[in-house]
Amino acid sequence: MTLAGRSLVTIDDLNNGEILGLFSLADAMAADLGAQYGLCRGKVMASLFFEPSTRTRLSFEAAMHRLGGSVITASDVGASSLAKGESIADTARIVGSYADIIVIRHPWEGAARVVADYAGIPVINAGDGGHQHPTQTLCDLYTLFKERNAIKGLKIALWGDLKYGRTTHSLIFALARFGADILFCPSPGLEVPQHVVDKLITEYGGEVEHPAASPQSDAESVFPVDAIYTTPSSPHQLAMMPDISLQLELREGVDALYVTRPQKERFSATEKDGAGKAGYPVVDKKLLRGRAFRETLVMHPLPRVDELAYDVDADPRSMYFKQAARGVPVRMALLALLLGVKDAAIPRVDSPAPPDYPVYRHDITPVCPNASCVSAQATERKYLRPEFKIVKTQPLTLRCVYCEHGFEPKYVASTDWHEGKLDTKKYHDADSHWARTIRPENLICFNTEAEAQQHGFKPSHYTGGHH
Ligand code: CP
Repeated sequence: MTLAGRSLVTIDDLNNGEILGLFSLADAMAADLGAQYGLCRGKVMASLFFEPSTRTRLSFEAAMHRLGGSVITASDVGASSLAKGESIADTARIVGSYADIIVIRHPWEGAARVVADYAGIPVINAGDGGHQHPTQTLCDLYTLFKERNAIKGLKIALWGDLKYGRTTHSLIFALARFGADILFCPSPGLEVPQHVVDKLITEYGGEVEHPAASPQSDAESVFPVDAIYTTPSSPHQLAMMPDISLQLELREGVDALYVTRPQKERFSATEKDGAGKAGYPVVDKKLLRGRAFRETLVMHPLPRVDELAYDVDADPRSMYFKQAARGVPVRMALLALLLGVKDAAIPRVDSPAPPDYPVYRHDITPVCPNASCVSAQATERKYLRPEFKIVKTQPLTLRCVYCEHGFEPKYVASTDWHEGKLDTKKYHDADSHWARTIRPENLICFNTEAEAQQHGFKPSHYTGGHH
């Protein structure tokens, strides 16, 4: 099957079979990296890194060079016309006319989606703010398959900054799709965002449980677990256990400990003073002596700061340098597939299809409340209309198609109520029974009454304070 012309913006863009097909090609390429030269002769990769990077940028560029292609690069917003106020869409159109494929890293969440919408060529997201980092996830999954042969039924603990760690967000969805149980072990204050948890629950059929505080002392408990995701087919049923049994189960071990650094560049002012500092968990030789980690793979997307001690580097359980090295064949395979110079043999495997949610796309639209979302930026708002998936009707919940943050609009109206007559343009509370009668294609949402009134709508009898 060909993946030619496709983009990889989130990990949802590849199903499980396609990921396994890509890994087979990566295996073949890893077996003889030198033999791949010439596959991409005449092709140009644009490498746009508007945030710092060592591994992702250099492994993509090495991958393209090893395939015999060329690389053009922009690595500093200040040295590109983005600094003059050019929009991402215009940059994408221009670079799309110079190159055959774009690899982009950008601090705004959803920026890679905009580039993919406007470039006219395949686009690979190399990390967009705190949203996702799907090619790091491919390196992580590839390492798990290489070391453990399968992912279904593995217990994987995610450790550290689960709030802003974009690698953990794309990894969580991929692990859930491949049937792993996931233990969330965040540094206090840096828990997995609610919109990621919501997506896990609504789209993967498993359960997210918050275990009760351990009756054991901290010293006796294996490690702090904030929440657990168990797949529907989980043999462990971890979440169903009383907390004491959970600790016993954990003592039996986890298959991988995925460590992340505090992403301080995304911290709010209060987080800089608090969450990032207090009790950030450290993985070191002493911790790994514990029985629970006897056969645990220690993974990290890197770079590390203080959360992963250098004294575990020589330990055979440490995988992070292998993860980074495997980035070259994995990214070679990805480039070759998206550029259509190779086809993949896609195995038939179960892969839950993403639900087909109705889309909210209207001239009147709330602004995405995530300040880091590309759709909320001044340069992009001139042309980018916010767009949302309607992921729940009770309570009404919209998910931004760019950054995937979810929110519950407070007020609604319907296009078929007023028929253009101003005096019947009314808005209702989003939780009123009228709101539930609005068909998705007629739905208009507002975050505030001021927004509704600005568009000429008046409060109905079903609006708080106007009954
Ligand atoms: N893992 C990762 O994204 O590393 P870089 O930031 O060095 O690319």
